[in-house]
Formats: sequence, structure tokens, C-alpha cells
Amino acid sequence: MSQLSTSPFAEHVGKHPGEPNSMEPALLHDPFTGYGELREKGPVIRGRFLDDTPVWFVTRFAEVRQVLRDQRFANDPAFARGSSREGTPTTRLLDMLGMPEDLRVYLARSILNMDAPDHTRLRRLVSRAFTARKITDLRPRVEEIADELLTRLPEHAEDGVVDLIQHFAYPLPITVICELVGIPEEYRPQWRKWAGELVSRDPKQLAKAFPAMIDHIHDLVRARRDALTDDLLSELIRTHDDDGSRLSDVEMVTLVLTLVLAGHETTAHLIGNGTAALLTHPDQLRLLTADPALLPRAVHELMRWCGPVQMTQLRYATEDIELAGTQIRKGDAVQLILVSANYDPRHYTEPARLDLTRHPAGQAENHVGFGHGMHYCLGATLARQEGEVAFGKLLAHYPDVSLAVEPEELERVPSPGNWRLASLPLRLG
Ligand code: HEM
Repeated sequence: MSQLSTSPFAEHVGKHPGEPNSMEPALLHDPFTGYGELREKGPVIRGRFLDDTPVWFVTRFAEVRQVLRDQRFANDPAFARGSSREGTPTTRLLDMLGMPEDLRVYLARSILNMDAPDHTRLRRLVSRAFTARKITDLRPRVEEIADELLTRLPEHAEDGVVDLIQHFAYPLPITVICELVGIPEEYRPQWRKWAGELVSRDPKQLAKAFPAMIDHIHDLVRARRDALTDDLLSELIRTHDDDGSRLSDVEMVTLVLTLVLAGHETTAHLIGNGTAALLTHPDQLRLLTADPALLPRAVHELMRWCGPVQMTQLRYATEDIELAGTQIRKGDAVQLILVSANYDPRHYTEPARLDLTRHPAGQAENHVGFGHGMHYCLGATLARQEGEVAFGKLLAHYPDVSLAVEPEELERVPSPGNWRLASLPLRLG
């Protein structure tokens, strides 16, 4: 049973008739249809998020991009209405979790909760590790990790069936991001467990995992300080120790946490969702196996069609703003719905059709699965590359791979923010 049905958030569903709640079954279980219907009602819809916070759902491609480019919409929850009186949505969530005060500062200093100039400073520091050149240099190593995992895949089979999520989609990106950041191999299973606890949104698990991760990163920093290398962790420690005004202690720890979590959970589900999409669309799969050069375009389309992130962080209006005819008031929360924007018929022809040739070769991506604007995903180039390697190598190792269950039996984890499969049982052929 899904942990969400027992989630404290579920109790708010239906309290405000006419205001869709991100936890209601129609949005939770079939976001494409649910948010699609909202999109056709209007570009900006009054709704409720998680703990009943009033939000504006922005549903269409053009308006989603417009808000993500508009700096009057801030990420810092301090801009939320009532933040000084009754707490922001984030502080209310932390209250609910019983999160100790001394740990809250770590969330507040996350790059995703920051605006310029702090956001710009942090982003500049860390982008150096994610340049196109650095990511291209990493490709042979990503391929090597994928080859190793795929070669060993049959060892995990039971009755000829293997779960791709468990044995490939997760281990590949977590290995890559941990190597890039500099997290020693022996801690990776523990990170995987913490990440699972975090995305479960189960308050008890969350309240346990979060402090444990923070402590662990502090320990890592202490240990690495005595033996700096050329990994990202060492680079961050050097920056911090040279000049604390460029990177504070808390910022350094939060950055490592964000990178490891954002760097594997999402990518794992691009691999899972994307593989399921290919195996349930034999015509598209044939196109790809006949022409592996199609891979970069295929990954753009899979990101659009079944990208793992359904909505961005909340944004807050820093002044009164008119958006597509709706008056947004200072302090209002705005939720950008990527999953409905990526299926907007105003922007795409036949949006529901998976078409690996939709995106012309050599052109920039044409979807919002990685966000847009200032907070555009820092790891997009890495994630795309991992997707290309994962799909390409899987099909090269196992050209006859197929689903071991009927497509309708694939179990999706109901989560308001993410699109992910609980497992992906395959026969390798
Ligand atoms: C931001 C999606 C992989 C690191 C974002 C945002 C989205 C996103 C939608 C913007 C959120 C917002 O504006 O509120 C994805 C997807 C991925 C992926 C779908 C995989 C398929 C990665 C990887 C990394 C990463 C591999 C690690 C290096 C980040 C960071 C941010 C971010 C650090 C915050 C950037 C900022 O605030 O300036 N991601 N991501 N992501 N992502 Fe990713």
C-alpha cells in the first residue's frame, strides 16, 4: 500500500470544493489526464498543495516558461504570505515533521530555495563541475559503469525476470554522482536508503533520514579535509576554507546533499520511465535500434513524454502580478505544472503521441522537464547523457529485452511531484 494513503497530507483532500488538491486521486494517480483537464480550463487555476496551502497551478507551456523567467517570482519561502505569522508552507511541513530548529537552516540554504544574489553565487561555484566539457569527459566512465551493471544483470534474475529499477536504473546514476562528488563506495547503499526514505514523504522516515544525512556529510568533510583530491567535495572544501564568504559551512553541506539526491533519484526514473515507454511502443523502439544516432533526440522526447519531475518547487510572488489575466497577489504561492505544460496542444502537435523524431537533430530541447530560467536543472546535461548511455547500452546488451508483465500491471508510485515506477520487471531475452 502506498505510504501516501496514510500521509498526513491526504486528510485535506476535498476540504475546498472547486479548488483541486495535488493529493486528490485524479491528480495523484493520473497526472497527465488530471492536470491536462485543468490546463484546458485555463492557464492559471486556483488549487491546493500538500498541507492545504493555497496555490496557483500554472498549466500551459508558454505561461510556465514565462513565470520561470520572471524574477518577480522568488524561490525563497520567506516571500510567502504570512511567513512571519503562521509560517511558510515549508516551515509548516517541518513543524509537522518535528524537525529540530538547528537542522532547518540547512533547508533554508538550499540552492533551490535561494534567489539572486545568493543563488547566483552558489550556482557559479558549482556549475564549474557541470560544464559540457566536464560531462563529455565523464562519458567513458558512465559507459563503463553501465556495462558492468548490465553484464551482471542476469545474476539478479528470478525465474528469468529482473527488476531494472533496482539493479540498473538506481545503481547507475547513484554511482556516477557519488564518484563525481567524492562519496566513497561503502556509503552508497546507505545513501540509496536515505534517499528512499526522503522521497517516501513519510514524516517518520523523513525526520530520521534528514539529520543522519547532514551528520554524515559533516563527517565526510572532516575526513576529506585531511586528504583533498580533485573531486567536487574537495573543491568545495577548498573554496570554503579559502574564503567563507563565498561558501558557508551550511551551504557546503546542503549543496552536497542536494547534488547527491537530485543527481540520482530523478535520473533513475528517467531510465525507468523511459525504458517502459520504449518497450510499450515497439514502432519507436524499432526506430531507435535501427539508428542509435537517434538517442539524443529520443532522450529529449522521453523527458517530455514521461519525465520524472512533474512540477517545480513553489514560487512566491514578490509583488502583485497579473499573469495571463489572473491577478496574483504579493505572497501568493505558484506551482508550475511541468507535466501539463509538456503535453500542451498549443505547443505540440499530437502531444500524447510518443515520437522519438519529434525534436530536430542538433537543436536545443523543447520541453520543460528540466525546468527553465535561473533554476534550470544544473545536472541536465549529465542526466541526458546518462539516459543516452542507459537506453543505448541496455538495447545493445539485450536486443530482445521485453516487459515481463502486462503494461497495465506496471505499478506507479503515487507522488504529487514525481513520476516513478515501483519496479520494472523485464525478461532480458
Ligand atoms: C533543478 C529536473 C537530474 C541537480 C532541477 C529542476 C528540475 C530538475 C525540473 C528545476 C526545479 C525548479 O525550478 O524548481 C531534473 C530531472 C533530472 C535531473 C528530470 C533527471 C532526469 C539532475 C542531476 C543533478 C541535478 C543528475 C546533479 C547533478 C539539480 C540542481 C538543481 C536542479 C542542483 C537546482 C538548480 C538551481 O536551483 O539553480 N532539476 N533534474 N539534477 N537539478 Fe535537476
